[in-house]
Amino acid sequence: MDKAWWKEAVVYQVYPRSFMDSDGDGIGDINGILMKLDYLQELGVNVIWLSPVYQSPNDDNGYDISDYKAIMTEFGTMADFDRLLKAVHERGMKIMMDLVVNHSSDEHPWFEESRSSRDNPKRDYYIWKPGRNGKEPNNWESIFKGSAWEYDEATDEYYLHLFSRKQPDLNWENPKLREEIYSIMTWWLDKGVDGFRMDVINFLSKDQSYSDGAIQHEKQYGDGSPFFLNGPRIHEFLQEINQRALSGHDVITVGEMPGVTPEEAQLFTGKDRGELHMVFQFEHMDLGKGPEGKWSNDKWKLTDLKRILSKWQTGLERDGWNSLYWNNHDQPRVVSRFGNDGKYRIESAKMLAACLHMLQGTPYIYQGEELGMTNVAFESIDEYRDIETLNSYDELVHSHGWSKERMMSAIHARSRDNARTPIQWNDSRNAGFTNGTPWIKVNPNFPEINAEKAYNDPNSIFHFYKKLIQLRKEHDIVVYGRFELLLPDDERIFAYTRSFEEEKLLVLCNFKEEQASYTLPEELHAYSATKLIGNYGQEEEGISSKPLQPYECRVYHLK
Ligand code: NOJ
Repeated sequence: MDKAWWKEAVVYQVYPRSFMDSDGDGIGDINGILMKLDYLQELGVNVIWLSPVYQSPNDDNGYDISDYKAIMTEFGTMADFDRLLKAVHERGMKIMMDLVVNHSSDEHPWFEESRSSRDNPKRDYYIWKPGRNGKEPNNWESIFKGSAWEYDEATDEYYLHLFSRKQPDLNWENPKLREEIYSIMTWWLDKGVDGFRMDVINFLSKDQSYSDGAIQHEKQYGDGSPFFLNGPRIHEFLQEINQRALSGHDVITVGEMPGVTPEEAQLFTGKDRGELHMVFQFEHMDLGKGPEGKWSNDKWKLTDLKRILSKWQTGLERDGWNSLYWNNHDQPRVVSRFGNDGKYRIESAKMLAACLHMLQGTPYIYQGEELGMTNVAFESIDEYRDIETLNSYDELVHSHGWSKERMMSAIHARSRDNARTPIQWNDSRNAGFTNGTPWIKVNPNFPEINAEKAYNDPNSIFHFYKKLIQLRKEHDIVVYGRFELLLPDDERIFAYTRSFEEEKLLVLCNFKEEQASYTLPEELHAYSATKLIGNYGQEEEGISSKPLQPYECRVYHLK
């Protein structure tokens, strides 16, 4: 297998709005990130992925960009950004920018021009269609609920917005628009940024038929995704992004790709295809989805999680590369979702970390994950800020007859705001995040769960993550070893091996709060085993035959 620095790296995602506020306005900012670089360096991460820091009216917290070459006023200035980039590089780390080019803000000057008249030169930067019988051009539903089309009186046409109506989709069929994007990317690369995380990048190419999508039972809108997920020109566009913007730069790229399969991902990440290094797939995040999408919050099974992750491990093992993640700014906190955020919070957070970091791929840590931060349960919908949560509440409670209690319990489990409460730095007011009033409330568990406390406790989740990152640097097998699933039908234990040259890793993770015993293939006992890391202290030489304790994990190095 070819070696590459981005395969050996660990990425840490910063959601700037919630990371650290330096100036008391209640909103995290770039100078706040600068204040915490020593912390990130201590953790040992190599790359910082910055969620969008560009100028934005913040309908979707920066994922609606009104100026791709300016810094959001609340986050600081371009001079602050330049200082951040320099300080990150001085510490031997890198910065990966968020590239949001499926859509812009409706307040971007391009859109303001585009909507001004049908013959404006920027009209075709966006997707405009006439109505059909006085209604929307087709039946597609927006991912943030309601129709994906918005009527604009000025020119008597509709524009497409797969997300909010303030996020009009850009028209990638237009070569001029594409050139604008490449020139923006080049501008940032010239500044010295080290890569891009590409927002919903497999939505760029739309099937030009704009046909109606299938309507599920009792739904008002149709599912347009077959007409925009991995559309007809997607590979061409990604290859062009490489040729026109990325070529000659040794940068890291990851494409966010809802609905992608391992077969497709192999095409997107194959070595000689010139598209992406890796993709964010969603199959494991989609566990528990039901008729109302994630809000259904159905039960999930460990055997399904194992089947999905194994399929991705083996699917990309020959050509391609995996990203590994449990968390990001769109997902609930993993310790609350797949672990136990009560009695076994510490054990389960460590187990989940080991389970993920020992897989093959580049691991991503979302801010606060290394502290075992948990979901939050605000009492009232008024305390939530996320547009998806608010729109969904509106639709399900006001139009679909869900009780408030049912919806609030779904929100407590699945809202994106679970990931967006401020980072808990210490046990002082507002968890040390801000001297002002935070834009979203702090999780009340901060006196117990915070970075200062974790830092001072050698047995904390923080130090466990630090050790996992260290192990990756010390052992090639952690990066490059071939994956094999053990015990596929076991509903309690996620067990696998990694193999590299003459060595093996054996990873055993108990996902339940009961003890779990196991029988391993005989051949593994022929090796001499040392325990590399675990969350229940040391034990005797060799592979232990003792059952795994609640949420116990053990990683053995076999030679
Ligand atoms: C995916 C981003 O991760 C999410 O936060 C955002 O709302 C949508 N794309 C739209 O940009």
